[in-house]
Amino acid sequence: MAILPIIIAPDPRLKFTASPVRTVDKETRTLLDDMLETMYAAPGIGLAAPQVGISKRVLVIDLAIKDTPPSPLRIVNPELVWSSADSSSNEEGCLSLPEQFAEVERPENVRVRYLDEHNVSQEVEASGMLSACLQHEMDHLDGRLFVDHLSRLKRNMIIHKLTKIKLAR
Ligand code: NI
Repeated sequence: MAILPIIIAPDPRLKFTASPVRTVDKETRTLLDDMLETMYAAPGIGLAAPQVGISKRVLVIDLAIKDTPPSPLRIVNPELVWSSADSSSNEEGCLSLPEQFAEVERPENVRVRYLDEHNVSQEVEASGMLSACLQHEMDHLDGRLFVDHLSRLKRNMIIHKLTKIKLAR
């Protein structure tokens, strides 16, 4: 396992549309494990492959709270098969936008189909935090960040702050 460097916005690599994985093989499983290790070390609750510079439709999530056993989700080629008409708003952050948080409105419930680490098709119906997290991570696969759901003014304020932080490094 390896901890991978996380790309910080603004960066063109966070804007690409990622490619589907043909089959979930050993290489993909290694990527999933490396991404989990990277996410736990950060620490964070979700990470998408484009955030570590790999333009593949791969993401990991673990919403287990501190001091409980980990419960990682390894997700490849996720597809949104249904989303509710009702929406809800949650505060979101992102490992690629360190220390930036904002309320984001999204469909409250979603159903997502994906391949697991054994290349087996799975479906998950999610609400609450898992629903928001799935949608946030799937956005990364299409080059969208949570700030892209905000007003231009709010988005520009956050990106401006991050640019200053990056220049100061
Ligand atoms: Ni993110």
